[in-house]
Amino acid sequence: MSSATGAGASPPWPTVLRLVFGGMATHVFALAVRLRLPDAIGDGERDAADLAAEFGVQEGPMLRLLRGLASLDVLTEPGPGRFALTAVGGLLRRDQPGSMYPLARMLTDPMMATAWQNLEFSLRTGGPAFDKTFGTDFFGYLAEHPDLSQLYNSAMSHGTRGIARTIADEYDFGRHDLIVDVGGGDGTTLTEILTAHPGPRGVVYDTPTGVAGAVNALAAAGLTARCQVRTGDFFSEVPPAADLYLLKSVLHGWDDEQAAVILRNCARDAAKHGRVLVVEHLLPDTVPPPNVPPGAVPSEQHFITYLNDLNLLVNGRGRERTHADFAALCAEAGLRLDRTSPLTTTNFHCIEISLD
Ligand SMILES: C[S@@+](CC[C@H](N)C(=O)[O-])C[C@H]1O[C@@H](n2cnc3c(N)ncnc32)[C@H](O)[C@@H]1O
Repeated sequence: MSSATGAGASPPWPTVLRLVFGGMATHVFALAVRLRLPDAIGDGERDAADLAAEFGVQEGPMLRLLRGLASLDVLTEPGPGRFALTAVGGLLRRDQPGSMYPLARMLTDPMMATAWQNLEFSLRTGGPAFDKTFGTDFFGYLAEHPDLSQLYNSAMSHGTRGIARTIADEYDFGRHDLIVDVGGGDGTTLTEILTAHPGPRGVVYDTPTGVAGAVNALAAAGLTARCQVRTGDFFSEVPPAADLYLLKSVLHGWDDEQAAVILRNCARDAAKHGRVLVVEHLLPDTVPPPNVPPGAVPSEQHFITYLNDLNLLVNGRGRERTHADFAALCAEAGLRLDRTSPLTTTNFHCIEISLD
């Protein structure tokens, strides 16, 4: 018997069952999101028969789908065949502030599931299953699919919005003159930073598709005069003369060779005494125990971090990194890892790199 189970403890068969049925749960969830069932149910209760008619599907299977969703805490069934949203379901409505629809829709899109079917390819070759599956890389695919690209940008911005204020509060951005948010997407992080620190100017730098929402986001925050939006390829160059290059959730999308090119470009183009601030997960040296009783859902933080690491393997050449990994990456780029510090109430770290 394994030490995790312990002599006398009941075998953790619910955990095995949860893992076995988890894939089915994701299919059920993905279909509900794709059909936008939460929008259709809205504030009140809806009959399975009405919903079946609205979506042009069969009533019996619709009832079973809705009950599956109720078993997963997305819906409740207050009376036979009548369904309402739970708080979880409410997060998937597109009209709610803080809606998780873009994130859920993007990560459960059939494109993702198709690439994940080739996980073994990544295991055997170390290469991206995504490229093997679609004949193009992830960001190239997004550039050819504007709907998905928009979902991706919204999903990134949603994830970032939750921690942007903490980043702005816990790092001393006020001492910098020019901050470039490299791979900054729609500028969610930089908007929060420049709002909290009136001194610095900023540049949001990304590809034309990545940066699509930035001009409007900065204008809405009244930052147009202090912040530019620039497009380009961070493998070639970054906007010059900044004293801080922010890389939030960017380096983990690339292998060490590619990430070193991005860092070296920052070093080449920076102002004197320039720095890089990486905001990412910092993996511990070993996986911490889930710290929950057998059968319970393991710590959200661990399972998201480690599954996202595999998602980076499937979709590209990226990876989450430990402290030693970041030190090795900096050494490869000819730079020095200065210090790392956790961002409170998040599972992100500030990783500071000196460019001198
Ligand atoms: C994981 S997202 C992070 C976005 C943002 N920093 C955040 O944390 O919300 C990675 C970003 O890198 C951008 N990107 C990818 N390849 C790029 C390239 N070659 N040059 C510039 N930006 C790129 C993507 O468009 C995307 O916005």
